[in-house]
Amino acid sequence: MESPKTIVPGTVWYDTDGNPINAHGGGIMYHDGVYYWYGEYKGDSTYYRDDICVGWRAEAGGVSCYSSTDLENWKFEGVVLLSEPDDVHSDLHPSQIIERPKVIYNDKTKKFVMWMHIDDPNYEKAHTGIAVSDSPTGLFTYLGSFKPNGGDSRDQTIFKDDDGRAYHIYSSEWNKTLYIGLLNNDYTQHTGVYTRNFIDQYREAPAVFKHKGKYYIISSGCTGWDSNTAQCAVADSMLGEWKVIGNPCIGEDAEKTYYAQSTYVLPIGGKKGLIIAMFDRWNKTDLDDSRYVWLPLTFRDGKPVIEWKDEWVLAE
Ligand code: GAL
Repeated sequence: MESPKTIVPGTVWYDTDGNPINAHGGGIMYHDGVYYWYGEYKGDSTYYRDDICVGWRAEAGGVSCYSSTDLENWKFEGVVLLSEPDDVHSDLHPSQIIERPKVIYNDKTKKFVMWMHIDDPNYEKAHTGIAVSDSPTGLFTYLGSFKPNGGDSRDQTIFKDDDGRAYHIYSSEWNKTLYIGLLNNDYTQHTGVYTRNFIDQYREAPAVFKHKGKYYIISSGCTGWDSNTAQCAVADSMLGEWKVIGNPCIGEDAEKTYYAQSTYVLPIGGKKGLIIAMFDRWNKTDLDDSRYVWLPLTFRDGKPVIEWKDEWVLAE
């Protein structure tokens, strides 16, 4: 099967071996001319558990990685953080939650550092987990998980700024409040410097980017696998203060984020200044068949705008 030459949001996307891409809740790292897409490698059977709050579950298969030089043809690099099926006590046992992995490169230590949401099946543990590797394609070594700044950490992302500082952005306080914490120089710990943002506003699925010196967070509301209305906020510094500027999505189904949920924003730059907003369209009864929705993000009147497109050409 040939990979699509255009981006067709919401259809099945295949890797260069012809298999559906399995990298959910993912993020992209650009390194030495190559894009690396990391995501949740979901088990292929979805089951319902009425004893857990979220209900629909697929086995956590670790973190997958795909590489590409053109963002169209994706080569499967394998599962780069392996699950641990033989250890029922491990954070990485397939019965547990491994979600929203993101990877950044540390120029000083020369390590690739992965942060992810680690949880028990009932989402009560609320930890963040960290893994490191000498190579973007792994294997990553798991360092463990903890509650950053003493609080919950569920939906999350990592942002590396131009000055080399990196931040962990995570839903805390039972998802009520989004915390932003400055990481230490090797990106494997928090410094203890953090801010509480969008207090009591239940923001999840943070996706962060910088544009013309300003910082933006796109996030979702808090309705599990079901879609809701996205929100964008802007700040002069990653640690805030953040000003809410509304739903970046426009047009039909904008209030449902086109039946998808934010996961990452990738500024490509180049002549056209392309910025790609990346979402997951969860299929809760068949989770590994959840689809990817990537759309161009543009600016109108100084605000980010995302519009649905049935298909679009990356080179646009
Ligand atoms: C969403 C979250 C997803 C996943 C899901 C489970 O709110 O953004 O990453 O955890 O809940 O229901």
